[in-house]
Amino acid sequence: MEQVRFGVIGVGGMGSGHCNWMHRVAEARLAAVCDSAPGVAKAAGEKHSVPSFTQPEALLDSGLVDAVIIATPHYFHPTIAQEAFKRGLHVMSEKPIAVSVSAADQMLAAAKASGCAFGVMYQMRSLGKTRAARKIIDEGRLGEIYRTQMIVGWFRSQAYYDSGGWRATWDGEGGGVLINQAPHFLDLYAWLGGMPTKITGTTRTRMHEIEVEDEAFATLEYANGAHGYLYASTTEAPSHEWLEICGDRGKLVIHGTSVKLFEIPNGIRSASAEATEMWRAPDVNVVEVEIPEGGGDHTDITRAFCRHILHGEPQYSPGVEGLMAVELINGIILSSHTGLPVNLPVDRVAYDTLLAELRKGSQRKKNLREQRVTDTHYTEK
Ligand SMILES: NC(=O)c1ccc[n+]([C@@H]2O[C@H](COP(=O)([O-])OP(=O)(O)OC[C@H]3O[C@@H](n4cnc5c(N)ncnc54)[C@H](O)[C@@H]3O)[C@@H](O)[C@H]2O)c1
Repeated sequence: MEQVRFGVIGVGGMGSGHCNWMHRVAEARLAAVCDSAPGVAKAAGEKHSVPSFTQPEALLDSGLVDAVIIATPHYFHPTIAQEAFKRGLHVMSEKPIAVSVSAADQMLAAAKASGCAFGVMYQMRSLGKTRAARKIIDEGRLGEIYRTQMIVGWFRSQAYYDSGGWRATWDGEGGGVLINQAPHFLDLYAWLGGMPTKITGTTRTRMHEIEVEDEAFATLEYANGAHGYLYASTTEAPSHEWLEICGDRGKLVIHGTSVKLFEIPNGIRSASAEATEMWRAPDVNVVEVEIPEGGGDHTDITRAFCRHILHGEPQYSPGVEGLMAVELINGIILSSHTGLPVNLPVDRVAYDTLLAELRKGSQRKKNLREQRVTDTHYTEK
């Protein structure tokens, strides 16, 4: 096999982007599309001169594809993935891999049993700045981590929320900023700073007419006694993104396009113990981290996924690691609704019970104005 033949399932805003960009990946070929909206499926099939389907199973059974990209609303990711794995097909899931940890568990078990490749579309992992940050952490240059911080203040308009019946509803989406916009950063936060063991969170709806949260904040506790705090919203402009990982020997700050490393050569404990002058502060070397070129594109993830299938090369974002963001998301929502700290891994039954209750109270949208448009942030690059 020289090229992986892809079926894209769900060809709305994101899925149509995957179809449009696939020609940039030499190792990939778009072979079929599927969308439950017949007009959308037909238009995508005609545009790319490939067969179109309205049922995911029909595409999976067609024999036309080796792999699928699932770009439907999140609730469908695990079920479609499991059907694909059953048929021996490789799966690239859009983020988040699932709405609940229990559904993610089933997806991971199916991936493992199939032996097929499984990836998640966390394209920010391929960004030069992220790769540089990860290298610093892997080299142990921060020492023991004792504090982490994530701030993601983004903006979404009411028109965005009104553009799809599923968006920002418990029944259609299963959450708000946490399940839709924040996963990219929650993934990086966990990937760089590690997973906490306990989370205490608050979610609220501050600005939009939606039934789910547009703001979330949480404090985190880690097994080694470190702590962290995070904030995510779709209520801010201009967009603001900040990741900070503090260790005994260094502090890493990722902000905008820059990565800064503040190195404390002897470590902060020794600096404190050894100082004899009352106001002596530790020596700090400010390192402007060199950022490798390229990355950050969805096609980088697709290319690495293909090369993983074809040549056994490592992926940027293996599907199994998609569970981390779902744990954080479920933990914050569960904590907010119970008013209690939540131990991680999240109690599967407790979260399923809460989600079922929230879905029961979910309402159909009154101001639906359907649009399927790829984020211009990506199309105007
Ligand atoms: N990685 C990224 O940067 C990124 C960006 C945007 C969206 N996404 C993800 O992509 C997914 C889709 O988001 P979107 O903004 O494209 O939504 P969208 O509403 O624009 O498109 C979803 C499409 O899926 C179709 N669909 C719904 N249920 C289906 C089913 N069971 N089978 C087949 N087709 C089905 C809909 O008709 C629609 O065309 C979400 O999970 C979202 O989180 C990822």
